[in-house]
Amino acid sequence: MAKSALITGITGQDGSYLAEYLLDLGYDVFGMVRRSSTETLERIEHIKNKIEFVQADLLDQASLDKALQTSSPDEIYNLAAQSFVPTSWSQPVLTAEFTGLGVTRILESMRHFAPDAKFYQASSSEMYGKVREVPQTEMTPFHPRSPYAVAKAYGHHITVNYRESYNLFAASGILFNHESPRRGREFVTRKITDGVARIKLGLAENLALGTLDAQRDWGFAGDYVRAMHLMLQQDQPDDFVVATGSTHSVREFLEIAFDHVGLKYEDYVVQDPRYMRPAEVDQLIGDNSKARQILGWEPTVTFEQLVKMMVDSDLQLLGG
Ligand code: NAP
Ligand code: GDD
Repeated sequence: MAKSALITGITGQDGSYLAEYLLDLGYDVFGMVRRSSTETLERIEHIKNKIEFVQADLLDQASLDKALQTSSPDEIYNLAAQSFVPTSWSQPVLTAEFTGLGVTRILESMRHFAPDAKFYQASSSEMYGKVREVPQTEMTPFHPRSPYAVAKAYGHHITVNYRESYNLFAASGILFNHESPRRGREFVTRKITDGVARIKLGLAENLALGTLDAQRDWGFAGDYVRAMHLMLQQDQPDDFVVATGSTHSVREFLEIAFDHVGLKYEDYVVQDPRYMRPAEVDQLIGDNSKARQILGWEPTVTFEQLVKMMVDSDLQLLGG
């Protein structure tokens, strides 16, 4: 019989890649969506007929209970969250509700209605924040620097706690930044590649950004959803860092993106204090040894390939 999976956050970047991946593996895929006055299925338009949608919201326990009962999944991937760091300062309570307490709600549903399922929690390298060591491993202490990161740290710890308290198969992937042509346009990578395409095509004159010095360990989302799936195929639940192991600054991202279309970023980028953060995460770099050794996972897309893939996609989207 085919395995079944419930994906929360299926309309997001990772949800779309994971749904594609699981469908290819022959899974029955259930996608949790929240009610909206307009459809938000853009990223999964091409596969939406193969997905069974269940309506629920991370804020509403009864709807989560129903979603778990309806789908009766073998695997649950909890990808839904308020995922944009700046919004977590303007909506800190809502972020805690979605990104933090939402994890407890879904674990409670699982405990009551699908205790034999395997659970994946989307933890984040943002939890390391003001980093205590370089590179960061599964053992590195957290020092979150935003309400988002604090909520993710809560979600991470409650996942471990439910594993230990109730013997649930609950695993947490500490994923470093991962991007793709489907990345939301407010995140810095997509903002840059969309901006480069607009400038190249004469649709914009400049690109306003915050700090150019921040460094991130950027990988390709399509690679990272494979790691999520591998985590749930193990005999024991555990936590894994998923990262490329190399780090680059926003400035380096800009150089490659503009260079790819024959332009120089210095001629177009302006710094705008509106995009500076109250507390910044300066440098993230992950140690992926455990994922390589135990999961047999490794990334396939290099930083340069990722930047160019995103620029090419945005040029094409804008008709270039
Ligand atoms: P994303 O594109 O922002 O997608 C977020 C998803 O969560 C969307 O499907 C959204 O649905 C859904 N959602 C938000 N609030 C909800 C609620 N109250 N009830 C139900 N669904 C809700 O995020 P992503 O980049 O795919 O990331 C996936 C997960 O991994 C997130 O938890 C994120 O925090 C985490 N993460 C991401 C990265 C990264 O670099 N991408 C790294 C580490 C961890 P709507 O379409 O209805 O808004
Ligand atoms: N968004 C944005 N917009 N970021 C900018 C800008 C700008 O105009 N200018 C500079 N940056 C810098 C930010 O200050 C940050 O240091 C870096 O670019 C990356 O910002 P984002 O792309 O917004 O991602 P993030 O690292 O804050 O968070 C992402 O990765 C986390 C994993 O570490 C999100 O996907 C989170 O959900 C995820 O957990």
